Amino acid sequence: MIADKPGLMEEVRARFAHVEACPFEGPRIFFENAGGALRLKSVIETSAAYAGYPDNQGRDNPASAALMAAITKGKADMALFFNANRGRVFVGESGTEVLFRLIRTASLGAEKGGVMLGSTLEHPASASAMARWSEVTGRPHIRVVHDDATGTVGPAAYRAHLTPDLRVATIVHTSPVTGMSVDVAGIAAAIREVAPDCFIIVDGIQHASHGAVDTGAVLADGYAVSPYKVFSRHGYGVGWASDRLTALVKEQIVGGPADAWELGTRDAGSYATFSDVVAYLDWLGGHFTASGDRRSRIEAAGKAIAGHEARLMTAMIHGTGNLAGLVALPGVTLIGGDAVSGREGVVSLRLANMASGDLVRFLAERGIRVHIRRNDHYCGNILAPLGYDDCIRVSVSHYNTEAEVAALLTAMREAAGAS
Ligand SMILES: Cc1ncc(COP(=O)(O)O)c(C=O)c1O
Repeated sequence: MIADKPGLMEEVRARFAHVEACPFEGPRIFFENAGGALRLKSVIETSAAYAGYPDNQGRDNPASAALMAAITKGKADMALFFNANRGRVFVGESGTEVLFRLIRTASLGAEKGGVMLGSTLEHPASASAMARWSEVTGRPHIRVVHDDATGTVGPAAYRAHLTPDLRVATIVHTSPVTGMSVDVAGIAAAIREVAPDCFIIVDGIQHASHGAVDTGAVLADGYAVSPYKVFSRHGYGVGWASDRLTALVKEQIVGGPADAWELGTRDAGSYATFSDVVAYLDWLGGHFTASGDRRSRIEAAGKAIAGHEARLMTAMIHGTGNLAGLVALPGVTLIGGDAVSGREGVVSLRLANMASGDLVRFLAERGIRVHIRRNDHYCGNILAPLGYDDCIRVSVSHYNTEAEVAALLTAMREAAGAS
């Protein structure tokens, strides 16, 4: 556990910027990690350096060679992050754009006819891409209904809709509203049993900062992450595509390399900042394994992060010290149940005696930053079936502490009017 190793939590926090204070508002506890994680200081330094380099790739000079080396290294680090020894990694405009590109390529390249399958748990990024490209390609878009009570969806629910003519399927790894993870490998294996050629695309955007990513174990064809949610920054998305998805026809410069997913001149700084993320995980994992293998250290970091976050989630939901947990506070309703197992850093809730917008401000006045989620095009898939207009989302990362959770519980006790 991160917090059990003397000094490690302090070292972790020292590697991130704006941990204890917002540069605009002053001291605050950051529980808005699902909206964007804290940035590594190394990412900020790398971004500034690369923003300053005027040179372009493919030239005969040392600056150009350095940029190309950063891209090559970034790609190798991305492949390590995804545990992908096959396929291609690439950088796009955002996580949403990467999902659209993967889904568009699969939809246009798959055998004609058939159906496309996703779930109601998905973020609109993948759901909208599936809606658009099912319409364009004239296929029905079926959506497996998630379970409101547990806030997730599983292989059994998918199984009811599996047919041999499945062409493209989408799976969200973790819901950004309920925080509950999904058995991606189980669903993918179930799909492969019935429709072995189906292209399976995974939205790993909410999962990526909460545990290791392993595309090798998942049997998928595409996987997308958003670096600003994994300790890097805005401005790019990162995707992985299998060899057979990469082999399909896709938008490209005529005459360019057939396997290239990138379009146009790349920002070498995006690759370099992802290398910073992988270097950080490598460093963190090194405290939990003596292995000389980088991937083993990244997996060890994933386990340590998940372990620490489980402790925070247990404290938040069930209490810590003499503070009652959220489940014991009067008027608190958790979205998607109160399970700790399978939860990845997010608790969304409503309070009976206070509107969600007021609760966000109430917590802000006590130095705690959280976010409102509304029954709109982003979260309506989770909130509408429950009949809720909104909720607040509290989201943690591995650099948050149990003391910060205690501060939240103290403020929530006041908000709930509990003695
Ligand atoms: C699960 C999930 N998918 C997709 C997205 C969209 O990512 P981006 O903002 O990088 O396009 C988000 C953002 O919140 C998300 O949580």
